[in-house]
Amino acid sequence: MPIKIIQVTDLHLIKPGELLCGLDPLDRLQKCIEDINTHHGDAAMVIFSGDLSDTGEEETYHTLASELEKLVVPYRLMLGNHDNRDAFLKVFTSVMAEDGFIQTVIPMREGRLILLDSLETGKTEGRLDGARLAWLKQQLDAAGSEPVYIFTHHPPFPIHIPHLDSIGLIEADELFALLKENGNVRHIFAGHAHRPVAGSWRGIPISVLRGTNHQTALGFEGHRVAVTHEPPVYGVIFIDHETVIVHAHDFLDRSATYY
Ligand SMILES: [Fe+2]
Repeated sequence: MPIKIIQVTDLHLIKPGELLCGLDPLDRLQKCIEDINTHHGDAAMVIFSGDLSDTGEEETYHTLASELEKLVVPYRLMLGNHDNRDAFLKVFTSVMAEDGFIQTVIPMREGRLILLDSLETGKTEGRLDGARLAWLKQQLDAAGSEPVYIFTHHPPFPIHIPHLDSIGLIEADELFALLKENGNVRHIFAGHAHRPVAGSWRGIPISVLRGTNHQTALGFEGHRVAVTHEPPVYGVIFIDHETVIVHAHDFLDRSATYY
């Protein structure tokens, strides 16, 4: 049996009742959690891959914490460029920062999930400075020959949408050097782009998902950003020793009809 992981990304919570890009991020999160509880209570883990908050305000993390009480699956939280590490840690007091960062390793039957913290306070682009790269190297060394699955808010690879490529992960080459040295990295799961993207980067399979609130319009020219109301998704990921499969589930769609 493969293990099942759920990926939820780019929640962008604001004050309850307020709209962001014409949408209600809290309502979206509630529907997302409801759907996970209904259909994926058997999942091993839900990973929230950053931009939990839109504003980084402490209140938004309190909102998140109270919604997470309803989630029946164990979860881990990651940070994105919209988050505020200090405010997050004030609310999620049980989260242990490693070297001051919200980075962690989750040992699983099928290998190790390594969750990175690419937030650089005050910046939109992602960073993995010397301390974070050193931590990652330690974790990759400790993984030995076990398969490794990387979760990162900022994609280290270009997706050819100019605005997004300009705010990706700065230390992409340094990250790749460590992943290549390890040689057992099976997949990179990312957020940040608010787009469904799949492919490979220098030989490593990658995937990116839409967020739970607003999305980025598909456009390959110019640096202007357009936001869309394309449907939100969460990812249903199956991992076994041979395969990584990522399904993007449109959790607001109720049109399934059985014939
Ligand atoms: Fe985002």
